[in-house]
Amino acid sequence: MNAALNVREQFNALVEDLNRHSYLYYTLGQPEISDAEYDRRFRELEELERAYPELERADSPTKRVGGAALEEFKSVIHAVPMLSLSNAMNEEELAEFDARCMRFLENEGLIEYAVENKFDGVAVNLVYQDGILAGGATRGDGYQGEDVTSNIKTIRSIPLKLRGEGRLPELLEVRGEVVFLKADFEKLNAERIAKGEEPFANPRNAASGSLRQLDPRVTARRPLTFYAYALGQAVGLTPSQTHYEAMQRVSELGFRISPFLRKAQGTAGLIEAYRAAAAGRSSLEYEVDGIVAKVNRHELQERLGFRQRSPRWAIAGKFEAVEEHTKLLDIVVQVGRTGALTPVAVLEPVGVGGVIVTRATLHNQEEIERKGLLIGDTVVVRRQGDVIPAVVACLPALRSGGERPFVFPTECPQCGTAVVKPEGEVVARCSNPSCPAKSGQRILHFASRNAADIEGLGKKMVALLLEQGLVNDISDLYALDFEQLEALPRMAELSAQNLLDALEHSKRITLDRFIFALGIRHVGERTALVLARRCQSLENFLKITEEDLLNVPEIGPETARAVSLFLQNDEELAMITRLRERGFIILPPPQAQVGRLDGKTFVITGTLSIPRDEAKRLIEAEGGKVAAAVSRKTAYVLSGEDAGSKLEKARALNVTVINEEEWRRLLEGEG
Ligand code: IVH
Repeated sequence: MNAALNVREQFNALVEDLNRHSYLYYTLGQPEISDAEYDRRFRELEELERAYPELERADSPTKRVGGAALEEFKSVIHAVPMLSLSNAMNEEELAEFDARCMRFLENEGLIEYAVENKFDGVAVNLVYQDGILAGGATRGDGYQGEDVTSNIKTIRSIPLKLRGEGRLPELLEVRGEVVFLKADFEKLNAERIAKGEEPFANPRNAASGSLRQLDPRVTARRPLTFYAYALGQAVGLTPSQTHYEAMQRVSELGFRISPFLRKAQGTAGLIEAYRAAAAGRSSLEYEVDGIVAKVNRHELQERLGFRQRSPRWAIAGKFEAVEEHTKLLDIVVQVGRTGALTPVAVLEPVGVGGVIVTRATLHNQEEIERKGLLIGDTVVVRRQGDVIPAVVACLPALRSGGERPFVFPTECPQCGTAVVKPEGEVVARCSNPSCPAKSGQRILHFASRNAADIEGLGKKMVALLLEQGLVNDISDLYALDFEQLEALPRMAELSAQNLLDALEHSKRITLDRFIFALGIRHVGERTALVLARRCQSLENFLKITEEDLLNVPEIGPETARAVSLFLQNDEELAMITRLRERGFIILPPPQAQVGRLDGKTFVITGTLSIPRDEAKRLIEAEGGKVAAAVSRKTAYVLSGEDAGSKLEKARALNVTVINEEEWRRLLEGEG
């Protein structure tokens, strides 16, 4: 009895401790403990929950990851509609907004506004019941959105339980924007490019794409952030007089709010705030496309009321787009590591929002056609904040007649081999596996920091080695000697030795990094780790079949196909053999987490949302076993719908019964 009480107390203390540190880290950005220490305490909580499955708390941080994938999102009707805002496109229109409000309120004096950033992300409504996060939905058309609750729970800056002493509101709707921070966005795109996937066009698309994933595990791996900017229904919350005050309350409840939030008086104040926000825009962590000014006093807001779809008391002051015109001098084609051919615009240098732009990706042939671009055209180049510059359109009216269409090459510009473009795909690829452009990119990828980490082997060096014919593929790097390197033009003796040392150092490598370094299509760092944990040794990895791969959780059919094609490619295999002959030592991957269910026996009863075979496979993949009948040795009975006598037997023997959701959490290492 006492022991059980102690465990419960320990569990509660741990949940609260972790939630507090998560708040310090993700909401305030002021961590007090190291990530490693957080992880250690988190694992401690996981172990407790595993040992005592009856310990339950809706706000346990282990609830943040996973949940089963959905077929589709349910639709949700917003109790209070999520309206849109009318726009002011410049200072003049902002002044008109203030004048309108003044007229409507019959000139009672200068109006005070609360001004905040206009976040460029996805609007969501969060519902808290008795302080506990109960649901989350996208804005949709304003009246009806999509239920994205499981995805919302993965966002660390959204509290699972409202903060604060004393009684929490019975019902509270918190509204705000889910965004991708700029730094996280750049990182995600770099990873996608490394995997041969299309990068996202901007942080907003990345936020929306990540939030609208049917598999919450995918969302969990995307670092989304939430900023609150309004309340919806509120029952049991002390009402505030102003928006400014309400936002302070929201911040105390554990949310991030616009760090720009300030009060402004009248037209002059509005314009000053608008200018300050525009000036500070590029130093923000997130993308903004303007300010939102709201009449501060709720009482005045009520008097002003609403028009069709937007409040009369608020306005979005949009920033003027950073766009410039320039000439499209040429379109060149780059060949990437996976052989993908990407057309790139060569532009007459032009300053856009403080940066000189000379090149911009055009993504693919379709994109060029859609925009109707001709070489020699005057084009519009746009840069939004820190985002990569883009050619948004051409200006056909300015044509002189000397423009010419771009012809997509049918042969690789690097090696002359035929270009292939499978039906239904937008990406054209060079079909030569040893295309030098691929080699260069592949070597660079192999050498990159999260792969083999060969210090000092950058673009210039790789180009030089290829040019001089010293290397053709990755394994050739490890046959280089001092004399060869020293003889290279511009190669000082010191750097030759440094490079050799770095190469030597890179030969001791963990399997996950090695697999990632190989540059297999669709295999990014995470997938490489999953594969490495599954295989444990290079021998096993080389033997794995497509069928085996399909049985690895987290590996989809495309990835399975790509890995198996790679492993059937004789040239790739020969290259790996050469690497081993040249002294590679492949170490096991870090902290094998496979076998979360090691030695545990499951019995399945009733109907699950997936076929039983599939459930069995997932259990076995984590080291568990599936038995036909319940006995004292059974660790868990996984009970689906219409469960039968096995359930009774389990109860009689005091065997833990779990439902599908709990089982998913176990698989994820969360339960
Ligand atoms: S308030 C009734 N505040 O802008 C007013 N909206 O055009 C409700 N947005 O769908 C909105 N930042 O996605 C408000 N600080 C902010 C905002 C903001 C971005 C978005 C929001 C909304 C859209 C309206």
